[in-house]
Amino acid sequence: MSTRTLIRGGLVVTAAEETHADVLVEDGRIAALAAHGTDAARAWTADRIIDATGKYVIPGGVDAHTHMELPFGGTAASDTFETGTRAAAWGGTTTIVDFAVQSVGTSLRDGLDAWHAKADGRCAVDYGFHMILSDVNEHSLKEMDLLVSEGVTSFKLFMAYPGVFYSDDGRILRAMQRASGNGGLIMMHAENGIAIDVLVEQALARGETSPRHHGEVRRALLEAEATHRAIQLARVADAPLYIVHVSAEEAVAELVAARDKGLPVFGETCPQYLFLSTDDLAAPGFEGAKYVCSTPLRPKEHQRALWRGLRTDDLQVVSTDHCPFCFSGQKELGRGDFSKIPNGLPGVENRMDLLHQAVVEGRISRRRWIDIACAAPARMFGLYPKKGTLAPGADADIVVYDPHAEQVLSADTHHMNVDYSAYEGKRITGQVETVLSRGTVVIDGRAYTGRAGHGRYTPRGTCQYLG
Ligand code: URP
Ligand code: ZN
Ligand code: ZN
Ligand code: ZN
Repeated sequence: MSTRTLIRGGLVVTAAEETHADVLVEDGRIAALAAHGTDAARAWTADRIIDATGKYVIPGGVDAHTHMELPFGGTAASDTFETGTRAAAWGGTTTIVDFAVQSVGTSLRDGLDAWHAKADGRCAVDYGFHMILSDVNEHSLKEMDLLVSEGVTSFKLFMAYPGVFYSDDGRILRAMQRASGNGGLIMMHAENGIAIDVLVEQALARGETSPRHHGEVRRALLEAEATHRAIQLARVADAPLYIVHVSAEEAVAELVAARDKGLPVFGETCPQYLFLSTDDLAAPGFEGAKYVCSTPLRPKEHQRALWRGLRTDDLQVVSTDHCPFCFSGQKELGRGDFSKIPNGLPGVENRMDLLHQAVVEGRISRRRWIDIACAAPARMFGLYPKKGTLAPGADADIVVYDPHAEQVLSADTHHMNVDYSAYEGKRITGQVETVLSRGTVVIDGRAYTGRAGHGRYTPRGTCQYLG
């Protein structure tokens, strides 16, 4: 049975252009776009017509950095694939790329299979996987080739978290060399975790136990140093490199220098680094624990470099690093010792809105909004143009966005499975109204109409910024 949906009268915004156009959806894909009011568009018939007059019609968001159900810090991220992808849909994100984990002593295969088992049949929107390499050895290096052929084309390595995810420079170099040969993209958590652990120990010995010390010991210089080192190792390996969750101005400078040399080095930042700061981490009592993540929030002055990087394309992607832990019972594990606060912030539902707010405030253009939130992550991780744009043949992942609606972000109204909002009380102009995932309406005029299991595993190609 063929179903046709027509989205009529909106302003279609992609990374490349803005046009008043009608969008015809057929069997889960975009069948055609035509200028609004033309004979071609008027002749279209459909089972359902969505009136988008006065609204934007944009590609569904692609959040290339989430951690649903991640076991971490002695607990597990509080959103499951079911609750987290539902919240993503509410926020206009129709694809997530989550991180499967290889734990030390196990294979990539086992890790990936475990993540497939968690996600299979539970997701509201489409999903893919990156692989976290925690145990680089002869076997796992060989497995990288296999994963690339299965559509898991990116691998996260950690210069932080010794004893958990950490890899030393030799292991990092070997993984980069492998990626150089098989088309994989290395994603780096760039913080000098060995040095940070010394500073953590010294801070705790001085009785500095509160959340704000998390930000103080994870020095911006140690992010910049690791970023620099990762770039040099990637040059030696002749491999492309993507730095995740960039927060420090000094780290942005390393990316700028590398890109000015023409190196295939890319960068991601997250809404928390653009909108929050060490002021939040220093909230009275233990409230700052809500803002503990790594890399950490930085003093406000760093935000200028991040916005600038997004405008100049020295940073290409904004992902959430969604890794929620409830304040009650989870963040509280670190009362009296900041190093025991589980690291991570919720945000998968808020990214599209926060970045639209940046459009409203004149920080980025509308098209840049769609680029950093949809098109660039899709291209970076081999999903374009199936995801990330509105074009004939693309998956009909479409958001009708009301640019004039006013909303206040709050844990009382969000859909993420976490008992606080990192953006509590923040006013946003703009709101998701209707969301289609492969042609199926999953948010219908601000009501959820999706279902667990609609979302499909989406194998990915290799990075489309290369060659
Ligand atoms: O604090 C964070 N970012 N938690 C998630 C794990 C990671 O390093 O991305
Ligand atoms: Zn990380
Ligand atoms: Zn992460
Ligand atoms: Zn992270």
